[in-house]
Parts: sequence; structure tokens; C-alpha cells
Amino acid sequence: MDAQEMREKYVDFFKSKGHSFISSASLIPENDPTVLFTTAGMHPLVPYLLGEKHPAGTRLTDYQKCVRTGDIDEVGDASHLTFFEMPGNWSLGDYFKKESIAYSYEFLTDVLGMDPNSLAVTAFAGEDGIPKDDETAELWKSHGLRDDQIFFYGKEDNWWGPAGQTGPCGPDTEIFYDDGRPKCGPSCGPSCHCGKYTEIWNNVFMQYFKDAEGKFTPLKQKNVDTGMGLERILRILNGKETVYDTALFQGIIADIEDISGKKYGEDPEDTRAFRIVADHMRAATFILGDGVVPAKIGQGYILRRLIRRSSRYMSKLGYEDPFMQRIAETVISEYGKAYPELERNREFIITNINNEELKFHKAVMKGLRRFDQMVAENGDSPVLNGETVFRLYDTYGFPIEMTVELAQEKGLKVDMDDFNSRFKTHQDTSRSGAEQKFKGGLADHSEETTKLHTATHLLNAALRKFVSPDIQQKGSNITAERLRFDFNLDRKCTPEELAAVEKYVNDAIKAAIPVVCEEMTYEEAKKRGAIGVFTDKYGEMVKVYTMGDVSCEICGGPHVKNTSELQGFKIKKEESSAAGIRRIKAVVGKFD
Ligand code: ALA
Repeated sequence: MDAQEMREKYVDFFKSKGHSFISSASLIPENDPTVLFTTAGMHPLVPYLLGEKHPAGTRLTDYQKCVRTGDIDEVGDASHLTFFEMPGNWSLGDYFKKESIAYSYEFLTDVLGMDPNSLAVTAFAGEDGIPKDDETAELWKSHGLRDDQIFFYGKEDNWWGPAGQTGPCGPDTEIFYDDGRPKCGPSCGPSCHCGKYTEIWNNVFMQYFKDAEGKFTPLKQKNVDTGMGLERILRILNGKETVYDTALFQGIIADIEDISGKKYGEDPEDTRAFRIVADHMRAATFILGDGVVPAKIGQGYILRRLIRRSSRYMSKLGYEDPFMQRIAETVISEYGKAYPELERNREFIITNINNEELKFHKAVMKGLRRFDQMVAENGDSPVLNGETVFRLYDTYGFPIEMTVELAQEKGLKVDMDDFNSRFKTHQDTSRSGAEQKFKGGLADHSEETTKLHTATHLLNAALRKFVSPDIQQKGSNITAERLRFDFNLDRKCTPEELAAVEKYVNDAIKAAIPVVCEEMTYEEAKKRGAIGVFTDKYGEMVKVYTMGDVSCEICGGPHVKNTSELQGFKIKKEESSAAGIRRIKAVVGKFD
């Protein structure tokens, strides 16, 4: 059975049981700042599990894309993945344990044709004043499962949630595939890691809310939240040894074989590298597909780590040149039917993956040379100090785990405590910096935001030239992804005007104009014809940034050294911001 067939079978089965299909939500949680990514199908449904009415009713089904990064270092073995798909079904205060277990049993045995003897299930053993779940065990027995197929565990194994720090949660019943091998010992069971049991589905009976103090209170309604591991069920149904042998990865692995000239499955170290590249590229493509760009913090940092780690493992396979676009294209074409946003955002994904890959290539070449030097300077010490390691992170963009791996290859350890404390100081500084600069309109001073800042000046000049000479900056806000520029105009810009503005900025970028910064008095700046509205904020001397005869503006900076660094410029949106104020959102980068 292939992946699309499986997704459809799941959804169709639950539709036949009165469930409405809902589309996968974004990987970026909308209302939960406590986690970076959507980690389970229930995550986007939290408000409804808490009692809000869902427009599609009280029975829902979907397949949700998920990212979990807790085990990123385990990726490369047979089963760990950062990105995975979770088909699921929900009862929002509708049915409870009886139907939930009956549906799961029917789907596994009737629809998928699994042998009931190959199943093992768990139930909650009772803990912290919450009683043992005999009801669940009895329900499984009513479908014919024997006592020796049912296992009781406590909170550690048989409780799920919340997904973030607070939220709905409850005891669960997990369904495992038992491969039929003898138990590895007397205590062997579904919680054992010997490989005999593989978890394929989890049914959570969500009836508690965990608050910030860690207290559990009963929810208004009793819900069911289930999630199946698509990769795992496909592996089992198709009799494959690992998830990487399923159809989900065949196209990607074939690409890696073709690019690297190596064969998957021949050498254990290479196999690990194949899996890391396959998993990370798949995850990176999906994360980009939800609009995240590589960055120093947050989701963007995870994305950057995935891309950089892929690059590094591809070089372990002996391939040093850029390769990512091809794999991203494969992911888009193979998954685009189930996740149309990938097709929609193809251009964004490809542009950003290429940019990041090239950037990393350049930095790594420099950084690797520096790393060897650092190792030499380290002398006989078996530990690389935190300052060195932090420099590799900060200046050369080495993800910390990459430095750790490189050090290990040289028989060295890394002073993680020292690194972590430097990292924390760095984060605190950038955070308070971000708050401070919010007023000035510039969120941070990363390479991306600096480019966008320069683009803002070009845009300002272009608007004055092609739209109205009276235009003045009324506000600016820059994130790592885009610039936002507000200006006075009491009408919409015409498409022709916007096209002329965009072309003018792009021509200025192509012309590779040096960006010159000079300090002078405000009066001198005015005489020069510099524009700038924040006169009283600058004091006596002001900085003036000039780009040929295109732009001359009073500004605190920073800016790129040459307009060519922007590569290209694109207006994404022109809209009203307030009465008499228009707003443009635009991006820079390479657009073909
Ligand atoms: N939310 C449950 C899980 O992720 C179904 O296992």
C-alpha cells in the first residue's frame, strides 16, 4: 500500500463513521508560543478540545504534518524522524472509549487486514489519584484480545499531553504491532525497546486540563484524540525493515544515490548519512513550505540546522556541491497532492533552500579551515573551550552539534557548559536588542535584516520617483523575512507604478552601487538633499547613507556595502495601513 492510499483509507473510514475531514494545519502553531512546531494532530485543535465549537462538528479526521526535534540526534537509526505524518480522528465531547476502541480495532483488522494476534495494547495503570483504566482493558477484550495482549503502565508510558506546557491531556491506550519474536526477557512488553513491539496508534482519552502549576482538573467535555504513525504503519503493512524502506522515502533516497554515486544500505555509516539527509531534507522542505526562512533563532534555527546537517552528511557521502534543490523538488512532487501548500510555495522553498545552502557552503569552507587551526591551537587539551566553539557558531554558523561531531572525530570533547553560558548571554543580548530596536523599526542586525534595511531606502527613493515626490516614510518594520514600509498616499498604487518601482529597485541592485556612509551636521545633510524625517532624534551629527544618485538618506544604519548584495527585490503586497497611509511588504533575494 502506498502513502496516498493509506491517507485516503484512513480518512474515508472515519468519514464513514460520521467524521468531517479537515486539512492539515501549518507546522507553525498559531496560538501556542510554548512550542516551535506542531507536534501532534491535536495541537491545532486545542481550543476545541477545551470546549469551543468546531465549525466542522464534533467528529473530525485528518492527516497532520508534524515536526518533533527532541530526538534530532537519533535520526539516522531505523526509526527516528524529525518530520512525520499523523493521521488522526477526534471526538469533541462526542463518543468516548467504547467507540474509539471499536473504530481502531475495525480499521486495523477489517480495513488494513492486520491479524488480531499481531496486536498488543496498553491501558493506564492508575496513578496520582486517577484510577486504573479497567474499562479500556475490558473493551479490548470484548473484541477478542487476550489478557496477554493487554499491558498496564503508569503515567510515564500511558498518559499523553499536553502538547505545550499547559493544555488538555489524559490517559491513553496505545496500540502496538508485535512482530511475533519471543520476548527478550520476563519484563518485555510494549514499553520495552528491544524492537519486538512497534507503536502504531495512540488513542488518548482527553478529559483533564494541566495548568501552569502542574495541576490536573477535569475538562468540560470528554474527548478522544488519536494519532497514527503513517511511516510506521506503512513499514509494517509492507513488511519493510525500516521507515526509510517505505515508498515515502524511495524517491528521495534514489536522488541521494544518484547525486552521491553511493548505494543505500551497503555501508552502515553511509546508510546513516543517507537517512539523515533524507529525513532532514523532507523536514526542511515542509518547514519552508509553511513560510519559515532560515534564521538564528526559533523555527528558522531548526530549519537552518536541518539544512546544514544535510549538507554535512552529504559531504560525508563524498558529495560537496549544492544538491538540495533536486531533493526539495522530489519532496514537492511526491507530497504535493496531500499537501498542496508545497506546490503553491514551490518558488519560495527552492529560492530559500538554495540561498541557505550556498551561504552555508561558503561559511563552512572558511570555518573548517578555522576549525583545524583551532584544534592545532588547542594543544594537548582533550577539551575544546567554549570560546572557540562559540566563535564557530557565531562567526561561521556552525551548528553546535556539528562542532561536537567534528570534535569527536578528532577525539576531542567540547566544553558545553561554557558554550551554553555564552550562548545564553548572546540570546539575552539579541532579545533585549530586539525589544529596543522595535522602536526604530529594525528587529535585529542579521545579514538578512541589513539587506532589507538597504532595500527600504531604495524603495523609498523609487516611490518618490514613480508615485509621488511628496512621499515620506511613516513607519518601518523589518523581520528576517520581509520589510514593511508605510508611507503617506491617499490612494492605492497602480500596478504600473508598483512594477516601475520594483524595476527601479532591481536595476539599482543590478547596477551594484556602493553604499557610502558619511557623518555630517543635519544642515549639511539637508543641503545635500538627504531625506529623513526623524530630525529631532539625531542630535548634531547625523549619518547619511548615499547610493549613487539613487538614494541619499539620513539614517542610523546598518546597511550592506553594495546594493548587489540584495540580489533581487520583490513587492509582495500593497495595502492600506491607516487613513492616508499605504503599506508595502517586500522581500529581497534571488528570484528567477
Ligand atoms: N496526541 C496523541 C499522540 O501524539 C495521539 O500520540
